[in-house]
Amino acid sequence: MNIKIIGTGSAVPKLRVTNDDLSKMMDTSDEWIKSRTGIEARHIAVEETTTGLAVEAAKKALAMAAVSPEELDLIIAATVTADKFFPNLSCEVQSALGAVHAVSFDISAACSGFLFGLDTAARYLKQGGYNKALIIGAETLSKIMDWNDRSTCVLFGDGAGAAILSAEEGEGEGILGMIQGSDGGRGMVLNCSNRPVNNPFVTNDAALSYTSMNGQEVYKFAVKTVPEAITQAVEAAGFSMDEIDLFILHQANYRIIESVAKRLHQPMEKFPTNLQECGNISAASVPILLDNVNNHGRIGKGNKIVLAGFGAGLTWGATVLVW
Ligand code: COA
Repeated sequence: MNIKIIGTGSAVPKLRVTNDDLSKMMDTSDEWIKSRTGIEARHIAVEETTTGLAVEAAKKALAMAAVSPEELDLIIAATVTADKFFPNLSCEVQSALGAVHAVSFDISAACSGFLFGLDTAARYLKQGGYNKALIIGAETLSKIMDWNDRSTCVLFGDGAGAAILSAEEGEGEGILGMIQGSDGGRGMVLNCSNRPVNNPFVTNDAALSYTSMNGQEVYKFAVKTVPEAITQAVEAAGFSMDEIDLFILHQANYRIIESVAKRLHQPMEKFPTNLQECGNISAASVPILLDNVNNHGRIGKGNKIVLAGFGAGLTWGATVLVW
């Protein structure tokens, strides 16, 4: 059975905020942000919501795949910024689409979330009984940023990406190698606390928590772990690294991507990026970039593609697929 991506879609908020815009709000500069990260602008939600962006991306992916909402057996949304504690984002999307037959649940694995969702869905489809799945990565990270903390808020953006997975007869195509990992022991290097315990039996007046990050520790984690995960996934798929046509990496930092390319002895031309325009959108980064390159005709049948995510948890994931 081949488990293939047959459609992609993406959506970002209308408001585009440049580094120069930010430098008018806080003590930062285009030069600092661009030279350290490669980021030049990001899209920030004003009227948009995580659900609205997810639905827009999902509709585009369904249209490309020529799949109707009723045909979906499964919806998995990866997010750390759902609009509600419950119902989950997937059920909200299911309702908006009219995907009445789809089992729908969310995955929380931060920037690796889309990879974890893809893996989970692929296993459902491989086992049988489920034929079509919608996987979404969607975030409005701007609402969990401390806009007084210039070391984090300049890095992130909002948006959503989606892909349709299909189980099809045959062997040797679609998803062939999947690797995931987690290291909860290092979770505090990138974290955002939820509400504290709060009920009539405790006194708790803690303020809302926002994203906090030890950037250098995350950087070291990424440049070591991502090449290892990709190497394992490529080996699991039975390919050599040189055979891979495209590496679609989580869009956190251009220097991290350059370092991964160098460690894998691969040219930067194989590593498309959109962080210049989008910043880091956590679970949405990989599916939005996948949709961007798909729409620009950079992916052809038979291409060997690596998708890789990494981030809070700490978590990481790499998937190898033949288009
Ligand atoms: N504008 C201007 N100056 C800033 C700034 C900003 N937006 N943010 C921080 N600075 C300052 C710091 O205050 C510090 O000043 P000091 O030396 O006077 O104390 C200086 O810049 C250097 O800060 P530092 O944190 O050491 O910078 P860095 O070279 O490590 O770069 C990151 C910071 C965040 C860009 C880098 O660590 C990184 O990209 N890490 C990975 C983060 C990541 O990818 N996270 C998401 C993973 S999913």
